[in-house]
Amino acid sequence: MKIAPSLLSADFAHLADEVKNVEQGGADLLHLDVMDGHFVPNLTFGAPVIKALRPYTRLPFDAHLMTYHPESYFDALEEAGVQMISFHAEAAVHHDRLIHDIQERGIQAGLVLNPGSPLSLVEEMLPILDFVLIMSVNPGFGGQKFISYTLDKICRLRRLAEQKGNADLQIEVDGGVNAENAPALKKAGADILVAGSSVFGKKDRKAAIDALRC
Ligand code: DX5
Ligand code: ZN
Repeated sequence: MKIAPSLLSADFAHLADEVKNVEQGGADLLHLDVMDGHFVPNLTFGAPVIKALRPYTRLPFDAHLMTYHPESYFDALEEAGVQMISFHAEAAVHHDRLIHDIQERGIQAGLVLNPGSPLSLVEEMLPILDFVLIMSVNPGFGGQKFISYTLDKICRLRRLAEQKGNADLQIEVDGGVNAENAPALKKAGADILVAGSSVFGKKDRKAAIDALRC
């Protein structure tokens, strides 16, 4: 099980220190929430901030695009040095083209589903995707309550990926993840847990990360 602390809940006045702190605490990836204020009702940071952080850590960067026109961010994110890019299935039309565009840069490609979106929206792309990100809150903000019906969706996605011949598909879960629901998420088939407030909201980041790694 990989743990991906989400920078959204970090102290924005001390980003480099926060990143180094979770790396020392044993994080596997750094989850970077890029929002456009349109697809979701919030704004965060973009490629310039991600690029500025690149020299401070060796953690792989996992960029989660909560934006319309996700393809317009790919060049800058590649230059910023990210290893994973995911975009919302609901926010784009040409899924196949965008996935290939990401992968041709040597970056892992993922599709994201809102809690209310059906698995059928990503089903055809399962053979070519590196990962699927299941949102377990409505995207836009950290610190929200985990939506428990998404557990069943993760179980069904795991089975569907196998049926589609992609047993290596990584399933990432994002939103309201904490030490209490982590065991159920693992059992359902999650490979990567994104955790914002349950890591950055705690003083001892190593203890917080260890608690999630069930
Ligand atoms: C929400 C973001 C999440 C967020 C999770 O739209 O995609 O990555 O940071 O925060 P928590 O873990 O606090 O729910
Ligand atoms: Zn996210």
